[in-house]
Amino acid sequence: MYTLIKNGKLVLPTEIKIADILIKDEKIFDIGSNLYEKYREQISNTFDADKHFVIPGGIDVHTHMQLPLPHFGIEASDDFSSGTLAALQGGTTTIIDFANQSRTENDSLTKTFEKWQQKALGKVHCDYGLHLSVTIVNEQTKHEVKKAVRDFGITSFKTFLAYPAMKISEEEMLSLMHTVRDYGGILTVHAEDGKLIEEKTQALLAAGKISPASHPLSHPIIAEINAIHTMARLQAESNCPTYIVHLSSSSALTAGENTGLLFETCPQYLLLNDSVYSSSDFDVASRFVMSPPLRPASEQSGLWQGLANGRISVVATDHCPFLLSQKRLGLHDFTKIPNGAPGVEQRMELLYTYGVKSGRIDMQTFVAITATNPAKIFGLYPQKGAIAIDSDADLVIFDPTQTHTIHAATQHTRCDHSLYEGLPLQGKCTHIFLRGKKVSSNAKATGRYLKRSSPLLSK
Ligand code: URP
Ligand code: ZN
Ligand code: ZN
Repeated sequence: MYTLIKNGKLVLPTEIKIADILIKDEKIFDIGSNLYEKYREQISNTFDADKHFVIPGGIDVHTHMQLPLPHFGIEASDDFSSGTLAALQGGTTTIIDFANQSRTENDSLTKTFEKWQQKALGKVHCDYGLHLSVTIVNEQTKHEVKKAVRDFGITSFKTFLAYPAMKISEEEMLSLMHTVRDYGGILTVHAEDGKLIEEKTQALLAAGKISPASHPLSHPIIAEINAIHTMARLQAESNCPTYIVHLSSSSALTAGENTGLLFETCPQYLLLNDSVYSSSDFDVASRFVMSPPLRPASEQSGLWQGLANGRISVVATDHCPFLLSQKRLGLHDFTKIPNGAPGVEQRMELLYTYGVKSGRIDMQTFVAITATNPAKIFGLYPQKGAIAIDSDADLVIFDPTQTHTIHAATQHTRCDHSLYEGLPLQGKCTHIFLRGKKVSSNAKATGRYLKRSSPLLSK
């Protein structure tokens, strides 16, 4: 079966050109002009892109569907079904979710993988991969990492320098980095200085400062800078590919200049700032409680520059929604507000509106940071992240003329609020194709688990 997307403005790495794309089954079969004439006998479906952009399906490499917070007895409000439906509607055709190793249950990495597959299988609407978050580092870890790479196609391993339940020591980090490097993987890191956060938190609680306004004070920028220095040192010592997730400040990016670290940031750090925490309405302030927290507006332009000049490789979302009722667990203690916020649905349109349309990044950078770089870094390229012959036909027709507004009430994500309520958007993902099949708003679960290769890093 052949499907034709004709008359698209294709965003390719070296040019933007009007052309047709022919899809055969799940793959891109041909790219060129007048493909209808060439293949008319075999074509069963035609979509006219009407000279709107055609871009590779988005890849969001940082999501937490149904993330369990055992110490709070709750889970993130999107499961793999609602969360991936939301992803697709916003032009994201692949996610990579974090499978967190439970230290209290002494889970192996295999057990962790199986637990997450249990949540995902049969429910996922877009294609997906998994990262493994490692919280136990011991003699077994080498074998488990090897098995994860070889048997599960997992080549990325997450670590934490913060969160008592998740953090590992510098010695453990270095040992893991050697292992991950030896098996051809990449380390991803939540980079905040956990000791400093703990000290600040205790001082705030002791002073009776229990409101959400204390959250950013307990996670100062210097905690992120300290962690970047630590990881730069360990990266140089181990030579392990190392990727900093959710970088929140241009000050920390400056600290990471001239290092071998790779960086990801998120729309919330590019577009929102810490003034929201001073709201006296708990339901307003608590929805922005995430780690790292939002920063002063002065930290944003350096992040945009980092995207434009290539120093930041990826924009992901850290999608981790909690309902306002769940956020209210921290009504009398800011440390008990579950950390995280929704975002997977709006990443592409936010970046187009406030990045491309506002002149901060160009269209090719937009494609690089939302699809091509994530695919390369996380071992999916060229199957994903490219408009190229034999790549998966994960494609989005993007109409830059349509305007709309973000409202929690109309989003697909299972969450009762949005960080971006009332924000206008310019441009819309009008047609989304997952492996050649056009996605409808009530998409059936056809997502597939992706085994991934080693990172493809440019020198
Ligand atoms: O606040 C956040 N970011 N929650 C999700 C878990 C993490 O740290 O990425
Ligand atoms: Zn994190
Ligand atoms: Zn996260």
